[in-house]
Amino acid sequence: MQRIFSGIQPSGIPHLGNYLGAVRNWVALQKDHDCIYCVVDLHAITMWQDPAQLANQTRELAASLIACGIDPQGSILFHQSAVHAHTRLAWIFNCVARMGWLNRMTQFKDKAGKDREAASTGLFVYPNLMAADILVYHATRVPVGDDQRQHIELTNDIAQKFNHDFATDFFPAVEGVILGPAARVMSLRDGAKKMSKSDASEMASILLTDDADTIALKIRRAKTDPEPLPSEPAGLEGRPEARNLVGIYAALTDSDHAGVLRVHGGQGFGAFKASLTELLVDKLGPIATETRRLLADRATLEGMLAAGAARAAAISTPIADEAERLVGFLKV
Ligand code: AMP
Ligand code: TRP
Repeated sequence: MQRIFSGIQPSGIPHLGNYLGAVRNWVALQKDHDCIYCVVDLHAITMWQDPAQLANQTRELAASLIACGIDPQGSILFHQSAVHAHTRLAWIFNCVARMGWLNRMTQFKDKAGKDREAASTGLFVYPNLMAADILVYHATRVPVGDDQRQHIELTNDIAQKFNHDFATDFFPAVEGVILGPAARVMSLRDGAKKMSKSDASEMASILLTDDADTIALKIRRAKTDPEPLPSEPAGLEGRPEARNLVGIYAALTDSDHAGVLRVHGGQGFGAFKASLTELLVDKLGPIATETRRLLADRATLEGMLAAGAARAAAISTPIADEAERLVGFLKV
């Protein structure tokens, strides 16, 4: 079985975009892969995080992942700061990767914004840590969104340079499992913007813990246009909000735009929004209930994460040890 590794930043309860674009695929991959899933709190602090919030957000994300179907026994689920092998290998990779490589990373440019001088140095070397996350398990398949493609290529560059510099074949090639564009969920307030945690409007995203009334309200307020739904996908052209709602409906029913429009084409948004609300409440309700149950029993939840960290460390510590030996560190 191939080993999967993926990570997600602890920015609290995930939204519908995280679920349809990432988490749902992670759940499905468990069927036929050996999966390691990590809440990347070390990555999170490359941007300022309120210390009073970070631990909470780590618990919230972990609970939500389990509620979505990540199996903490069959797979390995843990938080990054609990397994020191990541930072040990990341330091070595800081010395393998070249400034020029990191200078080309578009995510750094996006996140640093205009004032690059004020960005943390952690944000700059973030991709080296991500490469270490993956390679410290010798994982070969990495499910990520399209925005992470460049970081996967960098991971391969680092592995190759390490192997070359230290005359070894220790690190394997890594393959990104790029998750399809069908799962790109847009803001409920603006069909041209991605649904995002950083959106100023609470009405823009559906969180995985929203209750039925909140979901109904957000869908009712969702931006639309005055036309009824078309009967074919071509009719969604130039109607980004309609397209988004149809896309969400399709993703939740494992269908596609054409399939949804075959049933709902010709409907006004009043009727379609009612069906969509019912579907969302039906799919997300059990996840919200389970997330709340897990969060109410902190000791059990933290016990699951600690057990995950111990299993992760059992795989990654020997690999970090061997990388250090290859580099020439004295082992006494
Ligand atoms: P983030 O923490 O926002 O970078 O998202 C974590 C994961 O969720 C990444 O793999 C993203 O590709 C995915 N994701 C985030 N926002 C969306 C969205 N609006 N639609 C689909 N996938 C998303
Ligand atoms: N950089 C990824 C993101 O922002 C999160 C991440 C960190 C990751 N380490 C990883 C993803 C390792 C895959 C593999 O979404």
